[in-house]
Amino acid sequence: MTTVVSIHSFRGGTGKSNSTSNLAAHLAAMGARVAVIDTDIQSPGVHVLFGFDEHMDNTLNDYLWGKMPIEQAAHDVTDRVRASIDVVDGGALYLVPSSMKAGDIARVLREGYDVGTLNDGFRDLARALQLDFLLIDTHPGLNEETLLSITISDVLLLILRPDRQDFQGTAVTVDVARKLGVPTLYLMVNKVPRGVDVDDLREQMTAAYGAETAAILPLSEEVVQNASSGLFSLTQPDHPWSQQIRGVAERLKG
Ligand SMILES: Nc1ncnc2c1ncn2[C@@H]1O[C@H](COP(=O)(O)OP(=O)(O)O)[C@@H](O)[C@H]1O
Ligand SMILES: [Mg+2]
Repeated sequence: MTTVVSIHSFRGGTGKSNSTSNLAAHLAAMGARVAVIDTDIQSPGVHVLFGFDEHMDNTLNDYLWGKMPIEQAAHDVTDRVRASIDVVDGGALYLVPSSMKAGDIARVLREGYDVGTLNDGFRDLARALQLDFLLIDTHPGLNEETLLSITISDVLLLILRPDRQDFQGTAVTVDVARKLGVPTLYLMVNKVPRGVDVDDLREQMTAAYGAETAAILPLSEEVVQNASSGLFSLTQPDHPWSQQIRGVAERLKG
């Protein structure tokens, strides 16, 4: 059985792609078979963290347009993890990137695509790669794709910043997730400035959303300097941001 985890936020720039890639890397290092799929087709990004440039071929777009089976768009990036930490035997990590070609992005915006095909792709990928975990990096806000990914998820990780706009938007998303019957919902608060009382924040989250906070991640100059150039939690394992991410990965692994 594949555990499907969607990483979502109501607003952009919260840290979805950095969190998704680092969580996936830890799960693979622990011995799980994992894939990350970039469904942020309008503004892809997670490929950057795995060292891909804008010229990559074999993308989610190619699958959605019927050019190839989805597993052909899955790039083995296990060596990216292995470059920094040991990977337990059997662990593997694949990335299905979204195209960075201007023409491809324009085509998606112009023509859209069939969300049912995306759903079939999730299922085919899980089966073909015998995945333990499928992590879905999403476009911010609520749209047809994110509603689909939320609907089929075993776990929804909702990321927010300590910001009133994020708080309101997250309330809406939590509401939607409950209506859609998501089995497990965790909040992750990212970019928390120094001096914030973490216990107090956790209590506020529980009171506001009735959901558990799986991680409180600090706003970090080092993460900014990393500039999505690699998997920060692997290269800086002792950093508080990294420790929080690892904690979430351990919880997902169970
Ligand atoms: N805890 C943090 N502290 C500082 N900068 C962060 C932190 N988390 C993420 N960032 C930065 O915020 C930006 C957006 O992160 P990203 O993971 O791309 O978010 P999203 O996918 O939600 O748009 C990136 O420049 C990233 O380096
Ligand atoms: Mg992103």
